[in-house]
Amino acid sequence: MSKPKVLATRPLFPAARAILDENFEMDYWTPPERISRAELLQRVADKDALVCLLTEKVDKELLAAAPKLRIAATVSVGYDNIDVPACTSHKVVATHTPGVLDDTTADFAWALLMAIGRRLLEGDAWIRSGTWPGWDLDQLLAGDVWGKTLGILGFGRIGRGVARRALGFNMRVLYSDAVRAPTNVEENLHAEHVDRDKLFRESDFITIHVPLLPETRHLISKENLEKMKRTAYLINTSRGPVVDEAALAEALENGTIAGAALDVFELEPKVHPGLVARKDVILTPHIASASVDTRTKMAVMAANNLVALFEGKRPPNALNADALELK
Ligand code: DGY
Repeated sequence: MSKPKVLATRPLFPAARAILDENFEMDYWTPPERISRAELLQRVADKDALVCLLTEKVDKELLAAAPKLRIAATVSVGYDNIDVPACTSHKVVATHTPGVLDDTTADFAWALLMAIGRRLLEGDAWIRSGTWPGWDLDQLLAGDVWGKTLGILGFGRIGRGVARRALGFNMRVLYSDAVRAPTNVEENLHAEHVDRDKLFRESDFITIHVPLLPETRHLISKENLEKMKRTAYLINTSRGPVVDEAALAEALENGTIAGAALDVFELEPKVHPGLVARKDVILTPHIASASVDTRTKMAVMAANNLVALFEGKRPPNALNADALELK
């Protein structure tokens, strides 16, 4: 019997390829540049399944171009690249990769927090410039991290991981989330549920862990930036459009807040020009989950979702399993 045909928009990793190659007739996109939209639409046309990245949109156009498609598996936990209701109406299962990247992403949010709070890159650049004259008492002074107030926007698995790490820094932790965490979680993490307004006003560091939804787009607006302390820092490892980059650039220019560390951007790979040349901004290329182990687990998870579906089982990470009444 012929195997289902699958397009993977990256060669993925050996562990995921081993699963896919055994079960499917694979078409991997291997050139170094990302697959173009036209190429994607053409290659997916005869496929039964798609393994894609957050850079590929699975929308009505793609679904119409792929009449045989039964599953679209994004190798990411965020699935704002997938129109899930459209998948459901085309009877396509949409899956993502939750759970495996939480600690890796929380580690990286902390790396950014420490780096911006303690002026790490400014120190590095100074030494590399060859102009550092040697130690002195008042060089690159910064605020402390320990003992300060950490505001966490979005208290899911990643937000909670960030809070857990804050215990070692003896911080006051505030969080806001539409759903309040159970009391035992709040107690264990020493985290206080507050409204967003209080979080913006009282935090020394604000770290974002919300999904991109219509209601979180530009959550970091001019208005909310103006509520923040002039000494506060913003850290974003979630999705770029949660931050209004133009408003952020303006806030930094005006001294409304002290700095920002961003791993994600509104219009990736572009970055607002007002952010690029600033010493009070750290920019990293969407790598918060980029450890070998984690990215491998994500790809394996996507592969296993495909295998489950074609074995007649409910893919473990389906976003629309109930809507499609999968057993
Ligand atoms: C995700 O998974 O959504 C991240 O942004 C990339 O790992």
